[in-house]
Amino acid sequence: MDYLEIEGGKRLSGTLKISGAKNAALPVIAAAILSDQPILINNLPNVVDIRTLLKLLEILGAEVEHEADQARINPGPINSTRAVYEIVAQMRASILVLGPLLARFGECEVSLPGGCAIGQRPIDMHLKALETMGAQIEIKGGYVHAIAPERGLRGSKIVFDKVSVGATENTLMAAALAQGTTEIINAAREPEIVQLCEMLQIGGVTIEGIGTGRLRVEGTGGTPLNFSEDITIIPDRIEAGTYLCAGAITYSQITLEAINVEHLQSTIDKLEDMGCGFDYPSPNSVTIYPARGELREVNIVTAEYPGFPTDMQAQLMAVATLASGESLIEERLFENRFMHVSELNRLGADIWLKGNTAAVRPVEKLFGADVMATDLRASSALVLAGLAAEGTTRVRRIYHLDRGYEDLQGKLASLGAAITRRSE
Ligand code: UD1
Repeated sequence: MDYLEIEGGKRLSGTLKISGAKNAALPVIAAAILSDQPILINNLPNVVDIRTLLKLLEILGAEVEHEADQARINPGPINSTRAVYEIVAQMRASILVLGPLLARFGECEVSLPGGCAIGQRPIDMHLKALETMGAQIEIKGGYVHAIAPERGLRGSKIVFDKVSVGATENTLMAAALAQGTTEIINAAREPEIVQLCEMLQIGGVTIEGIGTGRLRVEGTGGTPLNFSEDITIIPDRIEAGTYLCAGAITYSQITLEAINVEHLQSTIDKLEDMGCGFDYPSPNSVTIYPARGELREVNIVTAEYPGFPTDMQAQLMAVATLASGESLIEERLFENRFMHVSELNRLGADIWLKGNTAAVRPVEKLFGADVMATDLRASSALVLAGLAAEGTTRVRRIYHLDRGYEDLQGKLASLGAAITRRSE
């Protein structure tokens, strides 16, 4: 198994290009199922999760040509509607094929994704929305079996009692081909949802309220979509935020290109509170400047967009370990998203957990050690801590990182970090 070895304490400098957003690309790929015509997707990040979902589409019968950051998907030959356990178990987001398969083919079986390191992550909201649209759903043998009414899913009013990115995406894709209008109340407003809405519009669906918590979707009544334009994936705000944290924790000046500044605002605000400076050399780039003096403590509560993203919580916590005062970090979205705490403490951090709040107490230094990655974003937090720690840090189980960060090691090395990928 591969691990990353980091010699901490190096100042970083230079410019990085941010990749396309994994979490935007996944629903875009799943939405290709709603069409019977080829579609070209640009700016895909080169990460394992994308390859896993493309593989699932191939298993379903789609033709997929994937090279560099482009994929051409021809969903025309899809001849299976069974999303097998072997793929879904590798990646929870495979559940995103449920809505489009059901809408386009009237029936499907999708393996239940099960739990994961950061919490239970149920899919009850996805299922309830589809049931409201007329689907009959049964859980059998570890699979969700879903059958649409004979005349197709019915446009309906869906009221979510919580904000869920995945449930909003599945409902949007199902609603795209439904008979009549679907209203989604308390929809997620993440930029990734906006990209999916815009893609569905390109495919011929009328959607109102894009970017708000109230979406109104006019379904095509079963007619497959026809994506008349290529789709270009939006910049990855979590990858960008992670590199901003790399700049902050090493007191470095670095510039990120191909970003969307607006999507990064909540992360930039917190790093500004900690004393870092920012400048915007162009509309699509940002430069972070080191804090003058010590980094300051920060208080964070994770929330849905445009609030502070749960996917940046671990990385900000790594930066907060070296602040001059005590930071409080509250996780509101996932019940068990603190797996990185004990590993950060192995590097010399002083973090105490009480319920869903972490108190990050100041320490003067972190010291390199062997640590274990537990989930995607926790892993990047350990790498960040390793960049600042004195001595050598080895981050093991980096297959988590490979799922969601394109060439993390190469990108950090290009900024001057002493980071090497090695095999056990
Ligand atoms: C997506 C992101 C993930 C991010 C999360 C929150 C992708 C592929 N993943 O995950 O990186 O951390 O949004 O921003 O885009 N919930 C239920 N029932 C459901 C669905 C969700 O109770 O049926 C709960 C979850 O357990 C969680 C909360 O709702 O507590 C939000 O989860 P959700 O927005 O659905 O996250 P994902 O879409 O899985």
